[in-house]
Amino acid sequence: MKKLNWAILGPGRIASEFADAVHAAGKTIYAVGSRRLEHANDFAGKHHIEKAYGNYDEMLRDPAIDIVYLSTPHSNHYEYLMKCLENGKNVICEKAITVSTEQLRPVIQLAKEKHLFVVEAMTIFHMPLYQKLQEIVASGKIGKLKMVNVTFGSLKPYDPKSRFFNMDLAGGALLDIGTYALSFARFFLSSQPNQIVTTVKKFETGADESSGIVLKNPDDQMGVITLTMRAKLPKRGIVTGDKAFITVDNFPRAENATLTYPDGSTEEISAGDTDRAMAYEYVYMNQVVAGARQENTLPLTSDVVDIMTRVRHQWGINYPFE
Ligand SMILES: NC(=O)c1ccc[n+]([C@@H]2O[C@H](COP(=O)([O-])OP(=O)(O)OC[C@H]3O[C@@H](n4cnc5c(N)ncnc54)[C@H](OP(=O)(O)O)[C@@H]3O)[C@@H](O)[C@H]2O)c1
Repeated sequence: MKKLNWAILGPGRIASEFADAVHAAGKTIYAVGSRRLEHANDFAGKHHIEKAYGNYDEMLRDPAIDIVYLSTPHSNHYEYLMKCLENGKNVICEKAITVSTEQLRPVIQLAKEKHLFVVEAMTIFHMPLYQKLQEIVASGKIGKLKMVNVTFGSLKPYDPKSRFFNMDLAGGALLDIGTYALSFARFFLSSQPNQIVTTVKKFETGADESSGIVLKNPDDQMGVITLTMRAKLPKRGIVTGDKAFITVDNFPRAENATLTYPDGSTEEISAGDTDRAMAYEYVYMNQVVAGARQENTLPLTSDVVDIMTRVRHQWGINYPFE
């Protein structure tokens, strides 16, 4: 397989983790782009990266770059997704890929026109455990799928300027952690929900703090999602059918799950490695771009963005840049 040159755009906390994961896998990243050359140089030095750019646009004009890992806050994913594609780059973008369906639609269209790949760095879609769980559900072992229940609560120190709370940076629980919960739910539900009932409590900034979201699809399967950014809740996903249920703890990067039968007996299911969560995304993207893998996770991403868009409309939350 041809070696593809990777670049990081937006070298923050998660980009650092990504670069470490690639390095640990014995691979290299070719370039990094920051809004400040000093920061780019510093990041490049720490992560064994050949080229450092102090300007995103300048980096995107480098013809040697094949794939961009986009890791700015969600508020400007759309702008840089479009720029990556306009410059002929494939792109794997951190969650939430865009803040709305209105933003995602032209991205998908442009990628199609340019014959480029756009993928969301949604760990759930790339962790081996989920392929295994999907096979178990498809085999009928849990019976007819009835419900998916997901909880995710994160206790962040309140800072109205940070991307978690700041409306200018598309803050709020829905786009930061809700995207994982909804991706988990949508991954197992057999069709896209057409009914959504929800309620929200907002932060002082106007971003969503805590919410309950109930989904139902045309197959009468339900999803129940509980989110908060002001209290800890287990990151737990439960998929239940009329014969058994599956529990996945720490679901965004899980390597283990438990199958529980109505009599209380259990079976452990394991696959993959939590520590390699980001390396799986790197491998997946290389294979997709090289034409060695055909599956496409973008329809699932698109369904999740669509649910988040509808939920946010119900809450009356609009970001200033929309
Ligand atoms: N997959 C995961 O497990 C995971 C975990 C955490 C976060 N994320 C996602 O990754 C993205 C980045 O999160 P993060 O926690 O890494 O954020 P972060 O530490 O704040 O880093 C974001 C980087 O984006 C660049 N940037 C460009 N425009 C910016 C702006 N207007 N304000 C602030 N920074 C800007 C900055 O780089 P320069 O200043 O150098 O240009 C900054 O270092 C988010 O979409 C988030 O949801 C994913």
